[in-house]
Amino acid sequence: MIAAIVQARMGSTRFPGKTLADIAGEPMLGHVVDRAKRIPGVEEVIIATTDNPGDDILADFAERRGLRVHRGSELDVVDRIYGAARHFKVSVIVRVTPDCPLLDPQVSGLVVRRFLEAGSSLDYVCNTEPRTFPDGLDTEVFSLETLERLWREARLPSEREHVTLYLWKYPEKFRVGHVTYHRDLSRLRWTVDEPSDLEFVRAIYARLGGSGCFGMGEVLAVLEREPDLIEMNKSRIPNEGYYRSLAKEIAVPCVERRLTMSHGLKARAELLIPSGTQTLSKGPTQFVQGVAPVFLTRGSGSHVWDVDGNEYIDYPMGLGPVILGHNYPAVTEVVVEQAKAGVTFSLPHPLEVEVAEVLTEIIPCAEMVRFAKNGSDATSGAVRLARAYTGRDIIACCGYHGWQDWYIGTTTRNRGVPKAVQSLTIPFEYNNIDSLQRIFANHPGQVAAVIMEPVGVVEPQQGFLEHIRELTTGEGALLIFDEIITGFRLALGGAQEFFGLTPDLACFGKGMGNGYPIAAVAGRREIMKLFDEVFFSFTFGGEVVSLAAACATIKEIRTKNVISHLWEQGQKLRDGYNVMSKEFGVHGSTACVGYPPRTIVTFKDGSGTEALILKSLFQQECLKRGILFSGNHNVCFSHNNHDIDRTLRVYRTAMEILAEAIEKGDALGRLEGKPVEPIFRPV
Ligand SMILES: Cc1ncc(COP(=O)(O)O)c(C=O)c1O
Repeated sequence: MIAAIVQARMGSTRFPGKTLADIAGEPMLGHVVDRAKRIPGVEEVIIATTDNPGDDILADFAERRGLRVHRGSELDVVDRIYGAARHFKVSVIVRVTPDCPLLDPQVSGLVVRRFLEAGSSLDYVCNTEPRTFPDGLDTEVFSLETLERLWREARLPSEREHVTLYLWKYPEKFRVGHVTYHRDLSRLRWTVDEPSDLEFVRAIYARLGGSGCFGMGEVLAVLEREPDLIEMNKSRIPNEGYYRSLAKEIAVPCVERRLTMSHGLKARAELLIPSGTQTLSKGPTQFVQGVAPVFLTRGSGSHVWDVDGNEYIDYPMGLGPVILGHNYPAVTEVVVEQAKAGVTFSLPHPLEVEVAEVLTEIIPCAEMVRFAKNGSDATSGAVRLARAYTGRDIIACCGYHGWQDWYIGTTTRNRGVPKAVQSLTIPFEYNNIDSLQRIFANHPGQVAAVIMEPVGVVEPQQGFLEHIRELTTGEGALLIFDEIITGFRLALGGAQEFFGLTPDLACFGKGMGNGYPIAAVAGRREIMKLFDEVFFSFTFGGEVVSLAAACATIKEIRTKNVISHLWEQGQKLRDGYNVMSKEFGVHGSTACVGYPPRTIVTFKDGSGTEALILKSLFQQECLKRGILFSGNHNVCFSHNNHDIDRTLRVYRTAMEILAEAIEKGDALGRLEGKPVEPIFRPV
C-alpha cells in the first residue's frame, strides 16, 4: 500500500500547538491531511504521533476524521514512522510534515510518480534537495526497505529524530532520486514554523480558500499580484514594518472617564480594609492613584468595566488566572450548573477524581495530585512534603512562591516571620548555577528541595535547567517546579512539557480554573504518597464549583487552539512594543521581554528617572486610553486582533509621551497622581 504518513505532535519549541492552529476555520493538520489525500497514487493518510498525553488531542482529531493513528516515541521519529509503516502494512511511504498547509498534491504526486517509475532502481526520491520548490511543499517518498535500513543503521539521537538525516549523511549507501522545478523558488517560505508564517498562510487562504484545493500555481499568482505578502514572514520580527508604521501614526486621544465611584469606595475601604485590598498586586499602590480605577465590577472576554462604567482592555487578567476570558461561556455554564447542584459537600465529589485523572494525563511529572485553593497552598504543601520525604530542612528557591512564612521571609516584607524560619530558605539567582551550587556546598546533605519558577522574566540559558535537574538528583534533593504561572500557559503540560524536563513535584494554580480558586500539587507517586502522613488539608480543598471550572477550562485548552493563540497574540504585543520603543529611541529604558504567552514590560532608570516613575507615566497614559496596564501581559484566549491592534496604538502614544519625558527629564512632573510603589524586594 502507498500511504502518506504525517508525523505530528503538539509540542514545538518555537510555536507550540501550531499543529491545530486555525486556518480559515480548519485546524492546520486538517488542511495537510486533505491535501495529502489528494496526492495521486496515495491510498491512505496515516497519522504518526507521540505517546505523550499532550498529543491525545491529535489522536482524537485523527480518529474523528476516520484516519488511522500510530503512536510512538517523541524523539525517536524513525522508530515511530517505521512502527506506523509496519503496523499498517505500508510498502511505499510518502512522508509529509504537518507544518505544510500549502502542500500541493500535484507537486507531491510528481515525487511519487518518479519513485514508482524508477521501479527498484531508487531507494528514495524527494523534492527538497536541491531545493527549487518553495519551502513548504516538501515531499519524500521511500520504500519500507529503505525505512527499515534507516531504523537499523541510524544510531545518533539526531539521526533518530530527523528521519532522513542518516540517508543524507551517507548518500553513497542509498540510491537517491530528485524532483526539481524549472525555476528557483527556494527563497519562498510557505512552511509554518512561527506565528508570522501562520499569518502568511492565513492570508493566502483568505484569498484562495474558496477555490477548493488550490495549488502552487494559484499561490504564485497571488504573490505576483500582491508581492507585499512575501514580506509578511520574511523578517526576523514578523510584521516589523507594520509596527514601524504604527509609530508614525497620529496619537490616540484620551477617552472620557469619570472615577467618582471608585474614589468614594476607596475612601470607605481605607477605613475598613488594611491596604484597601485583599491582594497587594491588585491594590491602590500598584496603579497611579487619581488616574486609575480602583474597583472593577464586570468582565467579558478580554474587557473589564470599572465601578463607574468605564471600559478597559484587560492585561493583568486577575493576575493571570483568567486564561480563556472573563465570563467565558463554556466555563460559566458548568459553574452555574454546579452551583445549583451544590458547592461544598461533606464527602469527596467525583470531580476530584476526574480532574486528578486529567492532570496525570497532561502533566509529565504528575502521577498523583492534591488540590488546594491558592498557589501558596500548593508551594507550601510541596515544600513540607519535600522536607518530610528527605528528612532535611533547607530550601533553595528562585522566583516568587506566595505569602507563606517559608518564602516571604526571604523578602523585605518579612515582618512577623521568625528569624529561625527565615534562615531555612535561601534564594538563588536565575541563570546562575554557581549561586545554587554555593547553597549545596554551604549546607551539605541539608537541602530538601530546590523550588523554582522554571522561567521568569528571562529565558533559561542553554543547559541551566538540565544542570539543576542533575544537581538535585546528585545531591538527593527534590526538584519542584513552581508552575503557578507557566502551567497551562507555556504549553498544555506547563514548562516541564515545553522544556522537556521533568521535576519531582510541581505546583499549579492560576490558569487552571479560568479565575476560580483552585490549585494543585502534582508529582511522583512515591513522594506524593507521603501526603497520607504530611498534613495538607483544608475545608475548601475539594470545593466543587472550582473543580467544575477546572474541568471545563482544561478541556477548552486541550481541544481548542488556546496555547497557540496565547503565543501568537503575545508575540505581537512583545514585538510591537519593542519595535516601537526602538522607533521612539527609548529601548534602553523600556522593553517587553519573556516568552509570548506571558510577557513583562521592564523599565530601567538609566536615564536618571526612577524606573517606577517611568512605569507610572506609561501606565497613566494607557489607563487614560482604556488599557488596563500593570506591567505585564497575561494574554488570554479572548484577546483578539482588534484588542491587540488597539493596544499597540495606545502603546505608541504612551511611548511617544514617555520618550519626550525621558528626553526632558520631567516624567515625575507629568504624573497626574501618586506613582506606583514596590510591594517588596528580595532582602
Ligand atoms: C510563581 C508563583 N508562585 C506562587 C504564587 C502564589 O500564588 P497565590 O497568590 O495564588 O497564593 C504566585 C502568585 O502570583 C506565583 O506567581
